[in-house]
Amino acid sequence: MTFSRRDFVKTSVLGTLATGVGTHTAKPLSESVSPHQGSSGSYKRPVIICAHNGYNYIDDAYAFLKGGGDTLDAALRVVKGPEDDPNDTSVGLGGLPNEDGVVELDSCCMHGPTRRAGSVGALHNVKNASQVAKAVMTDTGHVMLVGEGAENFAHAMGFPRENLLTDHSRKIWLLWKEYHTPNDWWGPGLDDPNWQPPREAGKSQSELWQNTYRRLEERAADLGIPPELREDAIYKVVYPPTGTIHCSALNEKGEISGCTTTSGLAYKMSGRVGDSPIIGAGCYTDQDVGSAGATGSGEENIKVAGAHTIVENMRHGMTPEEAGMDALKRIARNYNHDMTRLQYVDMIYYVLRKDGAFAGVSLWTGYQATKPHTIVVHDGEKRSVQTKALFEGYSRDFPPPVQVPEAVKKQMMR
Ligand code: GLY
Repeated sequence: MTFSRRDFVKTSVLGTLATGVGTHTAKPLSESVSPHQGSSGSYKRPVIICAHNGYNYIDDAYAFLKGGGDTLDAALRVVKGPEDDPNDTSVGLGGLPNEDGVVELDSCCMHGPTRRAGSVGALHNVKNASQVAKAVMTDTGHVMLVGEGAENFAHAMGFPRENLLTDHSRKIWLLWKEYHTPNDWWGPGLDDPNWQPPREAGKSQSELWQNTYRRLEERAADLGIPPELREDAIYKVVYPPTGTIHCSALNEKGEISGCTTTSGLAYKMSGRVGDSPIIGAGCYTDQDVGSAGATGSGEENIKVAGAHTIVENMRHGMTPEEAGMDALKRIARNYNHDMTRLQYVDMIYYVLRKDGAFAGVSLWTGYQATKPHTIVVHDGEKRSVQTKALFEGYSRDFPPPVQVPEAVKKQMMR
């Protein structure tokens, strides 16, 4: 994900100006039928839906599915792309690490035709967590393995051990260490020419933010982060991302499977497991009904068992969009619709019904002008489809970053 400086500053300003929800709109958007959901009741099969970072890999998976390939293997083909890509900092190799600098992966999968499931949590040193999840499903009598046991199992199954922390992700992590711990022994020491005295009382918010941004830029340069990647690195430090990929695949016969894989919340506590490996939260597939998956705020999704809730909603007659919207409303209800809290939450649900109807829904619209939330669909024609959102606006990442004052916006957005 790349943002222009303008986007970054704008985002920071609009998102952090402290006094309430700023650009967020608490009113639910209208309940119209999604353009992709149609009303005729007949839908195309096969069909694959996935997160935006699967765009480059869905063609191959679709051809595989069309040629008679298994639905789970098709979904795994899609997510393997970002898992293998060292430049995707949200999944597999090159994922942003936990607070200790270790890349820790979560994944689960469900195979509709055989009604089986597999999962791995807090997996180190093996990039294709989704395939290890499948191996747990096919080669053990268990559903979930975590931590060291999961890694040992993967190794026994022939998955190579490798260091998943790329140089770039390591540098972003170091930048994050410095950003969050300016007064400890990380970063420049007292004898460092770049050492700066603690923030002075009486300085304006504007000056403090400018100092912070300048310090991060200088440190990024010291770390050797190339100039064209510095702004993105700083963005990922100030707003720790929760990138993930989900994919659900349905073949011509109506067989359906799903999987979700992630490196989880950037700089998370060691051992923190998100929603992605939780059957029923990050992914759920029922051969009788359909499949759903999630990307976004893992903790919130676990609390509403999002993917399972959506599939059960469809079982009881809701359309994919209604089913997903209901799960989003449960997240809002968990905070009593308090927008000052919900502004820190985001969620995208990917919903695929057994007959081929699908929907992408999200808590927020995303950055409407430049980066609205989308899902990728392939039903013979590949395309990105904007999600149907519960609230208009975009979320802020948690914990809240430094406040960026209006004066800085004016100065930096020229
Ligand atoms: N949804 C990914 C995570 O929270 O880890």
